[in-house]
Amino acid sequence: MDKYAVIGNPIAHSMSPLIHRQFAEQTGQELSYEKILSPLEHFSETVQDFIRSGGMGCNVTLPFKEQAFQLATRHSEDAELAGAVNTLSCEEEGIFGDNTDGEGLINDLKYHQVPLTKARVLLIGAGGAARGVLLPLLRAGVDALHIANRTPSKAQDLEKLVFKKGNVSASGLDNKWSQPFDIIINASSSGLSGERPDISSEIIGQETYVYDMVYGQQQTPFNQWAEQQGAVKVIDGLGMLVEQAALSFSIWRGVMPDTQSVRQALRNNLS
Ligand code: ATR
Repeated sequence: MDKYAVIGNPIAHSMSPLIHRQFAEQTGQELSYEKILSPLEHFSETVQDFIRSGGMGCNVTLPFKEQAFQLATRHSEDAELAGAVNTLSCEEEGIFGDNTDGEGLINDLKYHQVPLTKARVLLIGAGGAARGVLLPLLRAGVDALHIANRTPSKAQDLEKLVFKKGNVSASGLDNKWSQPFDIIINASSSGLSGERPDISSEIIGQETYVYDMVYGQQQTPFNQWAEQQGAVKVIDGLGMLVEQAALSFSIWRGVMPDTQSVRQALRNNLS
């Protein structure tokens, strides 16, 4: 049977096996998909061992996405810009590294009917998660992308990466905001510690869609706050998890699974 896996540390709570097994069942593909805990110092060996044992591809999660980029011998454009890889595929001549996180976000925004074309977008955060979605957002035809980060210099570093590819600007969180944004994406990890970025409510209007890449049993602090400020819709990152997995699956198997049924199963799995 064709072997796939997700590799990370920690990995116990990964829902990727649940997702990929459902995709396999739904598309009639015979494959196995397991979780692998890699020692922090031995990511490369863990991948090589998996490939030697017949592994055909794997997802890579925290904290190894940058190391996976180094390990890959060929990269997609999205992986190049992200400097990180979440999908490795064995090829005859090496290992192909792609990053489906950004396109996964775009597909989830589309699923939720968030109008991307000509939108003024605020991206909060400037770590790996933010970097991974820059290019897909610009490709989706947004009108303007502003990156705001607690540490302003990191937002400016991201701006430099993509300033040739669209209308991009950067600042700290304490910028003077002239009008609400159409779409706000929280790519900061603040929600993981039960916090939200300290930013003015002027960024939110009655037509603003708000997306928090974090998800959990409870609504995230940022989405809770955004709803109180009158955002038209708030969305968490669970759908992005499913969509990035669907794109990985299609890279490996050449067929794009339907994500709708898996979304519900995952939501149930959270509660
Ligand atoms: P990831 O790979 O998830 O992006 P990261 O590279 O550690 O993780 O980046 C975390 C991001 O969340 C950073 O942009 C960080 O801001 P700083 O660059 O100023 O550290 C942001 N972040 C984390 N906690 C935050 C908080 N409480 N408020 C605002 N931003 C926060």
